[in-house]
Amino acid sequence: MRKHRIWLHSIAAIVALCASGVLTGLPVRGQSADEQDMETALRLASLLRSARSVIASNQDLINDPKGGDKGLTGDHVLELATVAYLKANGTPPLHDGQDPQEARLIEAQMQAIRAVMADNQATINADGVGFKGFVPAVFGRLVNEKFAGLVGTEAQVKVTAPPDLIRNRKAIPDAWETRIIADDLMSQDWPKGQVYAELTDLGGKPAYRVLVPEYYSAGCLSCHGEPKGEIDVTGYPKEGGREGDLGGVISISIFR
Ligand code: HEC
Repeated sequence: MRKHRIWLHSIAAIVALCASGVLTGLPVRGQSADEQDMETALRLASLLRSARSVIASNQDLINDPKGGDKGLTGDHVLELATVAYLKANGTPPLHDGQDPQEARLIEAQMQAIRAVMADNQATINADGVGFKGFVPAVFGRLVNEKFAGLVGTEAQVKVTAPPDLIRNRKAIPDAWETRIIADDLMSQDWPKGQVYAELTDLGGKPAYRVLVPEYYSAGCLSCHGEPKGEIDVTGYPKEGGREGDLGGVISISIFR
């Protein structure tokens, strides 16, 4: 009797999985739901990275103590980010034939970028102030927070890191992120740059979760490098990282 109920339960689960395209890989929204969620997640990570790279390459302008309008508006950042994004993806962030949810989420991310740049014009243009603290990581966090305010029930983008590298408490990895970072992304045989993805849940809701590893490049080490413990320009102790070490993870969740 008990066996039978379990059996029926399994059938129901398999039917449900097939309907969602998980087991069959049958087209849902043109491709399987997992494939589409993966693409959406990677596109969100790519636009975030592109915009962050614009903030990185404009640090000298941002930190120029000569004030006045520097022209680093949200539209300008998006224009430059689009060039980087196009190079990485072969299409602009928004394009014809795009999955509607992907388009909606990318649009929200663009809106978040515009809002963060608008909010920080006074800081960026401040007269007589050198280092502004408007570094790519801060910009990225603010964009992700705005994004959450716009689409938090649909998706979440967060930049996190292995627990011992965390600077801002808001970036602390959750239990799932901590486990996958330790067991997979940091394991010796994990291929460098390979993305981790899993249909699991977040806050009790089913979600397709994607982790995109990021490694320290030479430009990161003035703040995150050696000697470990020395205070960097932003006031945080350096992590003692080396070029090529896993420095962080972009964690994207698309709720189902
Ligand atoms: C000018 C100093 C500076 C440089 C250069 C820098 N970072 Fe950071 N990084 C910071 C600061 C400050 C924070 C904390 C941001 C915040 O408040 O959210 C941070 C946060 C992070 C985080 C989020 C997790 C956390 O600790 O809060 C990651 C991941 C990260 N940095 C990776 C990198 C990588 C990768 C590079 C190079 C591509 C880089 N950083 C370059 C200063 C820097």
